[in-house]
Amino acid sequence: MTRIDEIVDGIYRISANPKDSPVGFNQFLIDDEQPALIHTGMAPMYEGVYNAIRQVLDPARLAYILLLHFEGDECGGMERFMAQAAKAHLVGCELSAALNLHSFDFACQGRVLGKRDGDVLELGRHKLRFLETPHVHHWDSMMVWEEKTRSLFPADLFIQPGEQPPVIRENLSSAMCELYRHAGIFAHEDPVRRVVDRVERMQPEWVHAMHGGTLTREVFPRFAQALREQPFAFQGELLGRKLASGHMVA
Ligand SMILES: [Fe+2]
Ligand SMILES: [Fe+2]
Repeated sequence: MTRIDEIVDGIYRISANPKDSPVGFNQFLIDDEQPALIHTGMAPMYEGVYNAIRQVLDPARLAYILLLHFEGDECGGMERFMAQAAKAHLVGCELSAALNLHSFDFACQGRVLGKRDGDVLELGRHKLRFLETPHVHHWDSMMVWEEKTRSLFPADLFIQPGEQPPVIRENLSSAMCELYRHAGIFAHEDPVRRVVDRVERMQPEWVHAMHGGTLTREVFPRFAQALREQPFAFQGELLGRKLASGHMVA
């Protein structure tokens, strides 16, 4: 089951919660003159995401497909979305473009835009600004800020486990840190904490987590505080599997 909900002013959350998955998967559609899809979901989710977009606009009109880092749930569906939207561009950070989008044998070569920190993308009523956030999960991790609604798209930062409603006001920050410790997605706390400080200074109204619900301005500081105060980096577990003791952090 894939559902679509408008969160704020033309920004839609497309959400799927596969059975037995510890997290749900959200993609975000921005309805504008130049429509944008922020992450695609994994390849098997394509039909559900496509049909959800169709409830708002013709997916062939998509102008930009944004990849915030290179992983299956962020970009597994990119080739199919690019194939059905002839004028669309894939947008990633410059590093993603150089390391991945220009390196694999994609059919959509030539329709790739690599962005740096501070670059902007005008959609019409909405305006996106890019933040390079290296090592907040991946080397090529990027976040996107939408100026009109003061929305942050942080990909896998600020996630919450389980099936969550479109908007959450509940403080699930300890569950977030516990999930991170079990999944082992951050090598170290320091790069994450620097980005948390930066995005907190930006005073977001909405933080559109890729897994879980969108955080409101009111609850967001609780999540930021937890990331400053609680341990959440790799402790020898990968997706809940304990590695041999040689991998353990002392
Ligand atoms: Fe990821
Ligand atoms: Fe993700």
